[in-house]
Amino acid sequence: MLDLLELIKADHDKVRALFKQMESTSGAASGRRDLFRQIDDALSLHEKIEEAVLYPQLEQRSQKGRQRDEVLALLKEQTEASDLIKELEGIEPTSPTFATKFEALITAAGTHADEEERKMFPMARELFKPDELRVMGEQYIVMKDKAGAPALQETHR
Ligand SMILES: [Fe+2]
Repeated sequence: MLDLLELIKADHDKVRALFKQMESTSGAASGRRDLFRQIDDALSLHEKIEEAVLYPQLEQRSQKGRQRDEVLALLKEQTEASDLIKELEGIEPTSPTFATKFEALITAAGTHADEEERKMFPMARELFKPDELRVMGEQYIVMKDKAGAPALQETHR
């Protein structure tokens, strides 16, 4: 049984792979559009679920000061990434503007994922018991299923 952090790591890796794919497809418009749709779906859902089953709980448990500041900084980064996604949704995927904004998204979302793994994961392991992280993992899976997202096995083929 995977816990919440293992599920989040798997999502991050999936998005990292999609970013790589997008960086290597410069040509075909339909390919880029399709890839962006996959990235958009994966990232938007990932953020929505994290904001439901993780961040409020982290805010509650974290101590005022350094820990709380880190949680809030991560949430702010997350908002920046979702703002970029919303902007990209309105731009033609073959245009130069798209390429520039997409680079910004790769940096923002990539940095955010790295920081979550480096800072938030150890903090969550400290603040939540292993059982709690498994229950949160179940909530994560339930929310994903409800949204009709492909199961983890399918996304990692
Ligand atoms: Fe994340």
